[in-house]
Amino acid sequence: MQKISAYTPEDTFNFGRRLGEHAPAGAFIALYGEMGAGKTLFSQGFAAGLGVREPVTSPTFTIVNEYGGGRLPLAHMDLFRLNDLDEVWERGVWEYFDGFCVVLAEWPEVLAAEIPAERLDIRLIRRLDANGAEWRDIEICAHGDQSWLEEALTDGENFRN
Ligand SMILES: Nc1ncnc2c1ncn2[C@@H]1O[C@H](COP(=O)(O)OP(=O)(O)OP(=O)(O)O)[C@@H](O)[C@H]1O
Ligand SMILES: [Mg+2]
Repeated sequence: MQKISAYTPEDTFNFGRRLGEHAPAGAFIALYGEMGAGKTLFSQGFAAGLGVREPVTSPTFTIVNEYGGGRLPLAHMDLFRLNDLDEVWERGVWEYFDGFCVVLAEWPEVLAAEIPAERLDIRLIRRLDANGAEWRDIEICAHGDQSWLEEALTDGENFRN
């Protein structure tokens, strides 16, 4: 597990962008963290890094938003409203696990044991400093071969503390 600190919303966005610049075809990124932790903001940065130009909005109601126009197709999903694997199946979520699309999954818990074994887990944790200002710890955990990650984390400004 690796950990970085994001002190501002811009840090969260830029961290996403850095990963989006390096993610390979078929990458699956599970985004954990409570409501308002920054999963969608990270995803907006990630999309920018992939080269997506259209505005990226929360897929809360659509479940999956698909974006072309970038280096790779992006599927941004929010599975919060899905109650079980049957509902996941019905909403066509699996179609995007095709080894080509890059998938960002907010609230991936419902995937349970069906979550891709090869993936990146990212957890955003809300923190408060002594003055009551918010920042985020971001925990990164690679499962399987995620060799692109190292490059993403060390390219240019180093995020790690
Ligand atoms: N590093 C940071 N420091 C302070 N505030 C941050 C940081 N990163 C994100 N935020 C703030 O946290 C909020 C993140 O909202 P966002 O919609 O991305 O959360 P979410 O995890 O997608 O929530 P949901 O589960 O409801 O979809 C925004 O208000 C943003 O400004
Ligand atoms: Mg969200």
